[in-house]
Amino acid sequence: MERINFTHDERAAAQIAACYDTPPMAYVRSFGCQQNVNDGEKIKGVLLDAGFGLCDSVEQADLILFNTCAVREHAEDRVFGNVGALKSLKEANPRLIIGVCGCMAQQPTVVEKLKKSYPFVDLVFGVNGIDTLPALLAEKLQRGRRLLQTPVERFDVVEQVPIRRDSSFRAWLPIMYGCDNFCTYCIVPYVRGRERSRRSEDVLAEFRQLVEQGYKEITLLGQNVNSYGKGLEEQIDFSDLLEKLCQVPGEYQIRFMTSHPKDASHKLIDTIAAHPQICRHIHLPVQSGSDRILQQMNRHYTAGQYRDLIRYAKEKIPGLTLSSDIIVGFPGETEEDFQATLDLVREIGYMQLFTFIYSRREGTKAATMPDPITRKEKTDRMARLLALHDEISHKLVSELVGSTVTVLVESHGRTEGCLNGRLDNNLVVEFAADPALLGQYARVTLTGARGAMLQGQLA
Ligand code: SAH
Ligand code: SF4
Ligand code: F3S
Repeated sequence: MERINFTHDERAAAQIAACYDTPPMAYVRSFGCQQNVNDGEKIKGVLLDAGFGLCDSVEQADLILFNTCAVREHAEDRVFGNVGALKSLKEANPRLIIGVCGCMAQQPTVVEKLKKSYPFVDLVFGVNGIDTLPALLAEKLQRGRRLLQTPVERFDVVEQVPIRRDSSFRAWLPIMYGCDNFCTYCIVPYVRGRERSRRSEDVLAEFRQLVEQGYKEITLLGQNVNSYGKGLEEQIDFSDLLEKLCQVPGEYQIRFMTSHPKDASHKLIDTIAAHPQICRHIHLPVQSGSDRILQQMNRHYTAGQYRDLIRYAKEKIPGLTLSSDIIVGFPGETEEDFQATLDLVREIGYMQLFTFIYSRREGTKAATMPDPITRKEKTDRMARLLALHDEISHKLVSELVGSTVTVLVESHGRTEGCLNGRLDNNLVVEFAADPALLGQYARVTLTGARGAMLQGQLA
């Protein structure tokens, strides 16, 4: 695997500058997961480096980029809807450049559809093309014609990419790219390509820099962080990486996502237990509680193995909270399979649950599996799962009332004069406080709960 450093493209920047009287403005919007958001931050950094300014509205923009997600049909529909809405802007301003990038842009069918049905889209580039964006824009501006091709897969890791982060106290830090797991329902390995880890010295350097810049919460990103290190020259796994990062002095907390249960080890749990700066919260997507379905999903663990792992984690990490993703209505899921999911959810007691109705993704293995369950049955199951989880989370949340916790103050609250703070376990508490606390840690006593939202007061 090749590792290359980003270099400033002087020629492209000059060509871009020559096409505008004043610095052109770019509007960049990300639609997907944290990795997609982090890519969006790099796109903004690269555009600034190439001489663009950034703006918050499409009306002011000379360049509009939609950084897209392909994980479910609904995500794609949203993007097509938003792209369609740009048609009139382009008619009013023919010089406007409209680009689509990210995970959807990696799919030939999507690129074809954009080519045919969205003639006002000028540019497509993929998840690994961010470093070449200035050259692509220069070419588009010079030649005038549309540049719509399905991006090819790249196997390199690009370091030192300029970045404009969305927050001054919370940062995303990718430790690996791509995915090799090929869960049968999932499009990600096809659009994100093969798994490749960043060298630990590169991760560590970026981490140090973030801590020095005052970032308080750093979330390590990867589709399966637990397989970090595979393919690197150095002998290192995810726990070793965490261990290294925790040696960096400073006031910060570490989160990570996503952990795949098949690779989450006791060593990882022990590492979390040993370091207070790692949040006492694990997002460990189980997807289903049925062994038969888990096998059909190619997840490589059983519900029993998952339960054992959770038991060990709860024993070693007092106060640990858990969250999970669940897919409802995977092809062929029976009522019995679904009951097994309900049983597991009830037993584990997730603080948060992200639930999705199965969405068929062309090109994946599950897309060829018979799927006799009706839409109505799937939505009914979803409603039952949500009702169960509401009950569980209410109970877990109300148990916290009365305790005093440390939160990272992240935004203004819904109530006038209030701020929102995020707990270690990812819950949010609203409390009255001075806005000067934004981006800082605060001690808050939890006084009440409304649904999953907590109320509190400064301790
Ligand atoms: N790499 C992560 C998450 C990737 S996508 C992991 O393995 O957990 C985030 C979530 O979207 C998945 O956990 C899964 O629950 C859901 N998802 C992925 N593909 C889906 C599909 N085709 N239909 C419905 N949900 C899907
Ligand atoms: Fe998709 Fe599975 Fe990879 Fe997660 S681990 S991104 S669900 S293939
Ligand atoms: Fe993320 Fe969606 Fe791509 S979940 S990896 S942006 S398909």
